[in-house]
Amino acid sequence: MNRVLVTGAAGRLGRATLDLLAREGIAATALDLHDPGDLPAARVVVGDTGEVKAVREALAGVDAVVHCAAIPSPTLGTPEDVFCGNTRSTFVVLEEAAQAGVTRAVLAGSQSALGFAWSPQPIAPLYLPVDEAHPLLAADPYALSKQVDEQIGQMIARRYGMTVVTLRFPLLGGMTERLPTFASHYRADPVQGARSLWAYLEDRDAATANWLALTRPLSGAHEIFVAAPITLAALPTEELLDRFHPGVPRRAPMPGRTVPFDLSLADRLLGLVPEHLYA
Ligand SMILES: NC(=O)c1ccc[n+]([C@@H]2O[C@H](COP(=O)([O-])OP(=O)(O)OC[C@H]3O[C@@H](n4cnc5c(N)ncnc54)[C@H](O)[C@@H]3O)[C@@H](O)[C@H]2O)c1
Repeated sequence: MNRVLVTGAAGRLGRATLDLLAREGIAATALDLHDPGDLPAARVVVGDTGEVKAVREALAGVDAVVHCAAIPSPTLGTPEDVFCGNTRSTFVVLEEAAQAGVTRAVLAGSQSALGFAWSPQPIAPLYLPVDEAHPLLAADPYALSKQVDEQIGQMIARRYGMTVVTLRFPLLGGMTERLPTFASHYRADPVQGARSLWAYLEDRDAATANWLALTRPLSGAHEIFVAAPITLAALPTEELLDRFHPGVPRRAPMPGRTVPFDLSLADRLLGLVPEHLYA
């Protein structure tokens, strides 16, 4: 791997990924709508990931892609902007990457693809812990955009033989910002984390997941839940599930603060061991 294109490079996950690539000694090209001026990248391209010209320009000399650019919630744009914008970006980035000879891409997917997080009516999981076989029940434009992104990745893998790994991230944040805010909300009123199953991943561990998805010997398309092994909540997981998801079949014990996601695929395919756990 000589050079990696990171899209959405000025955002939370993009920056953390650039930092990790710099530590690994891999040259990076950053693509974002704006250049904050301090990105740790060998090359910065300002442009829209939905525009072929900008994406082609950014792909020069690149052999792998980490695609983070997106509108990251259904509340941050019109339904059309969120669904059409996000899926157009993913299609353009992967199609152009394949045409440019790129053989590996990592997509910033989301746990929200399940549909639970932003559904107008609460949706209960069909079973717990949730694994990759759980149906995707999108009831909002963002969830559907993340579901379709995964299908774009599958198509590109079949059409071009590219390896495409979609990481279904939970809530991301840092140890001193965002995670403490959500943790205090969940601790004050645990119902606030019920839709996301109280899951999180610290930014540096999310960047590590991107790195492993870039470098592990894999082929084809994969969709993988990644998360810290424990929740951001204070109460034991089984107590939370008794209160907020009663009656949902449980397929495995979830002692202590065990996150109610099955992380065995992340372990098997990526060997991901999150290191930054919120106490
Ligand atoms: N933050 C989370 O909790 C979280 C959770 C799950 C998944 N994700 C996913 O991870 C990815 C990154 O999220 P983030 O938290 O870093 O978001 P962010 O908002 O911090 O960063 C997104 C970046 O993408 C850029 N961008 C957006 N649209 C673009 C476009 N059309 N062309 C070029 N650049 C564009 C923005 O300018 C921004 O710098 C997203 O795909 C998001 O859906 C985030």
